[in-house]
Amino acid sequence: MYYQIDQKFKDYFQGNLRQIFFYIIDDCNLRCEQCLYKLEIGFQLERREVDFNDAIKLLSDFREMGAIKLTLMGGEPTLYGIKENNKPLLKLIKKAKELGYEYVRIDTNGQFDSKLLEQPEFKMLDEVTFSIDGPIKEINDPIRGYGSFDKCVKNIKKAKELGYNIDITSCISKYLLNRDENGNLYLDRMIKFAEDLGIERINFHNLFKTGVPRDYFSGNLDVPIKDWFKAWGEIEDKVDNNEYSIPVRIPQSFTTKEKFKENPEYYGYCSCKSKSRILIHPNGMLRVCSLMIGTPYAIARYYDDKIVWDNSPTNELRAHKMDEYTPCTNQFKHNKFGNFVPVCVSFKPKQQEMIWKELNWEERRLENKIRIIIADDNNETKRQITNILNQIEDIEIIATANTPEDTYQKIIEYTPELVFSKYAFEGTKINGLDIIKKSKEALNDNVPAFNFIAMDIPKEDFIEAKRTIGDKMNTIIRENTEARYEGIINDYKDYFNIK
Ligand SMILES: C[S@@+](CC[C@H](N)C(=O)[O-])C[C@H]1O[C@@H](n2cnc3c(N)ncnc32)[C@H](O)[C@@H]1O
Ligand code: SF4
Ligand code: SF4
Repeated sequence: MYYQIDQKFKDYFQGNLRQIFFYIIDDCNLRCEQCLYKLEIGFQLERREVDFNDAIKLLSDFREMGAIKLTLMGGEPTLYGIKENNKPLLKLIKKAKELGYEYVRIDTNGQFDSKLLEQPEFKMLDEVTFSIDGPIKEINDPIRGYGSFDKCVKNIKKAKELGYNIDITSCISKYLLNRDENGNLYLDRMIKFAEDLGIERINFHNLFKTGVPRDYFSGNLDVPIKDWFKAWGEIEDKVDNNEYSIPVRIPQSFTTKEKFKENPEYYGYCSCKSKSRILIHPNGMLRVCSLMIGTPYAIARYYDDKIVWDNSPTNELRAHKMDEYTPCTNQFKHNKFGNFVPVCVSFKPKQQEMIWKELNWEERRLENKIRIIIADDNNETKRQITNILNQIEDIEIIATANTPEDTYQKIIEYTPELVFSKYAFEGTKINGLDIIKKSKEALNDNVPAFNFIAMDIPKEDFIEAKRTIGDKMNTIIRENTEARYEGIINDYKDYFNIK
């Protein structure tokens, strides 16, 4: 190790560090309206660029700590060492590959001299990401600067000719939620524009005012929450129906309180808690959350060959409940979203991003699984059913219950797809039919399918249950065997055409 690293810093990452966002320069040749890096570009006490030797040493030490993915950014990273014809930038790319970084990418505004693309070290990049904020210059240029669209597109085309792996990143401003004369969302057109350029994928960043510091310096391009879900849903549907030929990474940004409560392990994604990334800045700041850019908050500082943990109130992790899945801590501070809660800016459902895949995050999504509640007043029977169901794929036991009241309350709270419940509980007159009626009353069409554990149930109850919820009154289970439960799950999948 080149740096003398604080034990607290090592303890925090504990082998989880996988990716670095290296802000190698606090300077830029554009002044985009929404830029989150505005304050760093606008004013520096001392350093504009990371010292080259420091950069190599940091890359080496973080590689040793487990990092394998590197993003070079800033400010504008293609200005790094510009006075020396970008030699320092090129050497940095080469060195990163030699150090064993498996995926090295650069995030650029695409305004650079095209000759850069011909440099052998530049060609070692695993991905070049170009930022454009609209499918037409009339949208992009007022945001990113006049003439910037044409220059960027020219370099994308050249990069394409040269065989680069190309990504486009676009900020979703209020203009992308407008529609063109044919009724198409500009957001949709942005994806089609990327497809037409023949690039590999497109990634979006969101722009909301969510009570974070950058609200005060990131311009007025933000999207009102009320307009967001319609547009997001429209694009998600198209993604799900495979209507786009390239992968689309789009932030969900919010979910409802109910959905969060049902599946906190999924919606509670937070890089501060997964401890998989670090942001390095020229002024010595080491951060985790990009929402803290432009603030004094960080986790540590590097200087004089030391990495010093921030023990003061400016340690950004102080805000977090590190052992709990919560909505996005930094955006949730002012809690003014009504029934919505903010999720991580990097929360992009079904994305193929490396860390998301490594963490198997999509597997946590309960919507992918058949969600089940088991209800019985006999703990032994409940355990037996749980053991059987745990052997079956694609299901998730989300709750268990002991009484009929407990059962319908949990059904209403968790809205499962399937319920396995005793019909006649001991010591109460409330039975399975009452559970059905109360659930139907509260959930209507979202009522789950019921399977009752009983030797028999009165014929008139069965007829009444069928009359109340139709086919969702599924069956009676007389014997708790693996084959019986497997059969029910398979029938359920067939009925609802679940693959
Ligand atoms: C800060 S820039 C640095 C790299 C390079 N200058 C560029 O523009 O690609 C990195 C990315 O952040 C995006 N970005 C800028 N301001 C943002 C904001 N307020 N919220 C989310 N993303 C933002 C940019 O559009 C760009 O895609
Ligand atoms: S090009 Fe990148 S760093 Fe420069 S102002 Fe625009 S978003 Fe910010
Ligand atoms: S945006 Fe929110 S959820 Fe994501 S890292 Fe920052 S604090 Fe965590």
